[in-house]
Amino acid sequence: MLDLEALLRLDEGRMLQALRGFPEQAERALGLACRVPNNLQGFKNAVVLGMGGSAIAGDILAKFSLVPVITVRDYRLPAWVNTETLLIAISYSGETEETLGAFREGLRRTQRTVALTTGGALAALCEEEGIPWVPVPPGFQPRAALAFLLFPLLGCFARLGYIREDPASVLAPLRELRDACLPTSAHNLALDLAQTLRDKVPVVYGAGPTAPVAYRWKTQINENAKQPACWAELPELCHNEIVGYELADRLFSQGLVIFLRTSFDHPRVAKRVEILKEVLSSRGLAFLEVWGEGESILSQALWLLHFGDWVSFYLALLNGVDPTPVRPIQELKQRLKAGTS
Ligand code: F6R
Repeated sequence: MLDLEALLRLDEGRMLQALRGFPEQAERALGLACRVPNNLQGFKNAVVLGMGGSAIAGDILAKFSLVPVITVRDYRLPAWVNTETLLIAISYSGETEETLGAFREGLRRTQRTVALTTGGALAALCEEEGIPWVPVPPGFQPRAALAFLLFPLLGCFARLGYIREDPASVLAPLRELRDACLPTSAHNLALDLAQTLRDKVPVVYGAGPTAPVAYRWKTQINENAKQPACWAELPELCHNEIVGYELADRLFSQGLVIFLRTSFDHPRVAKRVEILKEVLSSRGLAFLEVWGEGESILSQALWLLHFGDWVSFYLALLNGVDPTPVRPIQELKQRLKAGTS
């Protein structure tokens, strides 16, 4: 019998508190969208600079924007970035060197620039250069502050007419999901799935708008549950990853494929999933499907994202670890600062 109360004591970093507040944080963050100045209008494309938990906001935005958006996780910018580009630097801490490096380079190429951060060197740079920046509430892990990093962008793009869906429409389904995933919930599907994923290597598959969501599942399982995980996207994975199934029974017996599904999946993607399920079964590989809920594709994608966050939270507890600390990331950043290899 699972002693959830005892397991929750592992959550010393209070990830539960951040997680349970996601829908309300999203609502508050939509308000922050008003702070993005109107003089940034008229851009032809946008580049979101960020790493890790900050960068994922750019990936999600890119899937819904009516103008081209890419996320750059690098020190350098693509060659095509110019005066018509809106440059959005996102760094929760404001101290991420890749983001700062690319942003500095971008300031020489475009004047349409904005940043989202709690402060740090990024805020200081913005103040120095007179660049608008959206202040993000401190006290979270960057990955747990996603609502504050994503929703201002969704709100801003929606206001500019660059997103079709109304971002506020996702709030109700997110609240419902949150309530169902709380530790007090009688039918907690996130906890059930976490129990299934224990001692497995989750391989999360998304398609189109759920591709970055699959990546978010992978990274949340890594950072919260401290567990290896993989991801890939359809239809691309049908052109490479599936060949790797051939030796999976010998090399990857702990693998478990999770298909993230929505009612908006392209019919040919849906067909591919059915075939993949047969292929996986014939090779004795385990799989399951998780379907997003909500009226719009934006709702369903964010529903899946929030559900994955809960799954990774419970998986951490089942693994006997505190979901919050990410010591290897901090150690690596320290070593870089110290100049050691
Ligand atoms: C930690 C996390 C990391 C950070 C990344 C970049 O919770 O998710 O992936 O997001 O190291 O740091 P920031 O977001 O401060 O620029």
